[in-house]
Amino acid sequence: MSRFDDAYYRRYYGDGGVHDHARIGHLATAVHELCAWWEVPPESMLDVGAGVGMWRDWYVATHPHVRTLSIDVSEHACTTWGHEQHDIATWTPSQTFDLVVCHSVLHYLDDAAVAAAIEHLATATRYVLYLELPTEHDLLELVDPERSDMEVFRRTGTWYRRLLEPWFQQAGAGLWVRRGAVALFELEAARP
Ligand SMILES: C[S@@+](CC[C@H](N)C(=O)[O-])C[C@H]1O[C@@H](n2cnc3c(N)ncnc32)[C@H](O)[C@@H]1O
Repeated sequence: MSRFDDAYYRRYYGDGGVHDHARIGHLATAVHELCAWWEVPPESMLDVGAGVGMWRDWYVATHPHVRTLSIDVSEHACTTWGHEQHDIATWTPSQTFDLVVCHSVLHYLDDAAVAAAIEHLATATRYVLYLELPTEHDLLELVDPERSDMEVFRRTGTWYRRLLEPWFQQAGAGLWVRRGAVALFELEAARP
């Protein structure tokens, strides 16, 4: 039985869960509009580890012309919220997406699987990746253990950056732009 079952989603995405549709709406609006500012307004979006499908739902509701694909490794999530079932450690899409979202997923994968997953995310991303996950620091200092799953891999930000930076430039606030596809002003980026 997968850990990502009905009880998991009720525990972390029910009342008082980690985030909800309203909060994702604020975040998705900001991400979408920053892409537009960079002159790459998303016409397609891939949600990796989509869970209850909040990003996909936001796009369908607010930008119905955007082509969306949501995937998840959990059979329960795929059956309940309508995703394709794939493991990002072993799967790449056959086409790229302007925006790829991977929100709160990679800390569930072991080291080798994260390395493979980041290569697959890079292959899938035409312009912009939105990536969020708690690092070792966040789990110690910021994350509320009552509301969040603490049974996850604890790695440093440096560890993740080493894998991401060959493919992406960090813009900040979870946004990573595909090298060569989006040009950021020097002080617009978090890192060169
Ligand atoms: C914490 S939930 C995040 C759900 C959603 N992204 C959100 O932020 O609301 C983690 C999700 O990642 C999915 N997941 C975990 N490992 C995965 C993998 N290797 N490939 C694809 N999805 C995965 C789980 O099934 C679960 O739905």
